[in-house]
Amino acid sequence: MARRSRPRLDSDLSRRNFLGATASSAAVPLFARALAPEAAAAQALRVRDSRDPIPLTLSINGHEHRVALDPRTTLLDALREHLGLTGAKKGCDHGQCGACTVLLDGRRVVSCLVLAAAVQARAVTTIEGLAGSDGTLHPMQQAFIDNDAFQCGYCTPGQILSAVACVHEDHAGNDAEIREYMSGNLCRCAAYPNIVAAIKQAKNATRES
Ligand code: FES
Ligand code: FES
Repeated sequence: MARRSRPRLDSDLSRRNFLGATASSAAVPLFARALAPEAAAAQALRVRDSRDPIPLTLSINGHEHRVALDPRTTLLDALREHLGLTGAKKGCDHGQCGACTVLLDGRRVVSCLVLAAAVQARAVTTIEGLAGSDGTLHPMQQAFIDNDAFQCGYCTPGQILSAVACVHEDHAGNDAEIREYMSGNLCRCAAYPNIVAAIKQAKNATRES
């Protein structure tokens, strides 16, 4: 014979209802008393969301840009998504490929790991700002062309800025030193030998630039 489930009794429901009603009627006044001042304060002074845009002034390639950004925005996203400077590429977004390399006060950084909010009042140089104002290429840009130091070109902006830093930071003494310094900039087209040749060609001119 099929076993019948135990019917719900009115007394069960009423006990449950009673307990629930008792608990809520006991809790509400307590919470109300505890939260009322906070709720009132939050309404009077809206509690700031951590994602609310903050005003920033960024100095990019010698020009000041005023923007309002989510504080979590990386320098790479600020450049690409908010300022239209797409020279720095997003390869991995994890600091592993070097495609997003830019110069910060003359030293290279991977812009996907730097917060835009952290670079205010600092000079950012991207590939768009490397040539002279009259359009004359930087010696390192010219050397990359002269030595066929790229194929698809995706990694090239990051390679060139790293190469400039390689010279300025005095790591271009010989081939091995250059390869070591440049090892953070990956090139899927494997233009590595030509990149080394380009850096050697542009070394002296870059020091003077
Ligand atoms: S995108 Fe920044 S290191 Fe790859
Ligand atoms: S030139 Fe194609 S990834 Fe480097």
